[in-house]
Amino acid sequence: MSDDKPHAAGTVDAGDTSERVGMAVLRERGLEPEELREKLIDAIGAEFTTYYYYTNLRMHLAGHEDYKEITEDARLEDRAHFELVAPRVYELGGALPNDIRAFADRASCPDAELPVPMAGDGGFDTDSLSAESILEVLLEAERCAIRTWSEICDMTHGVDPRTYDMAQRILQEEIEHEAWFVELLSMERDGEINPAGHFVRGEPGDAPLSTNRRFNDSA
Ligand SMILES: [Fe+2]
Ligand SMILES: [Fe+2]
Repeated sequence: MSDDKPHAAGTVDAGDTSERVGMAVLRERGLEPEELREKLIDAIGAEFTTYYYYTNLRMHLAGHEDYKEITEDARLEDRAHFELVAPRVYELGGALPNDIRAFADRASCPDAELPVPMAGDGGFDTDSLSAESILEVLLEAERCAIRTWSEICDMTHGVDPRTYDMAQRILQEEIEHEAWFVELLSMERDGEINPAGHFVRGEPGDAPLSTNRRFNDSA
């Protein structure tokens, strides 16, 4: 191989599909791709479960159309976060767990459950349920997401531009989500004006930074 093509060959043999240069280069830079990959599975486990739990939280903000709409944006953007990073798990030689229960259990954030028990009739015991209590769950879920994606940004900065780019896009939206719920909870609970600097997304769950390539209308 001529000397003026320094990247024409490396540590992975030509035609070897059991190794990935995309992983080897991370290792060469001091990042264990397997460790990153497992953290990504945990992180998108939290995005996926939060997408589910926010459905229930949004439903129970009855009478607060503005809160419902903002929760819907955060809900759909969590789905976008899952979609954005899922392919990266495979690029790093991994796979999503076959068992969705295993996937949920390893999520890097707590379940964002409605803060009341279910009643015997299949619904929830809503007597003690308030918009304030739901907004508190939403706020803490966003904070966990910020911590999670900040850690992944730290792991990948200057080492893995592809994962870093994904993580920083998600992180930006999570920071927005926190600000939304700080604003809503401040007013709902404390009567305080604490602006997020936010108005509605163009479309529900627009995910302006993290959305994956849209290949059809449902994506
Ligand atoms: Fe998210
Ligand atoms: Fe979020």
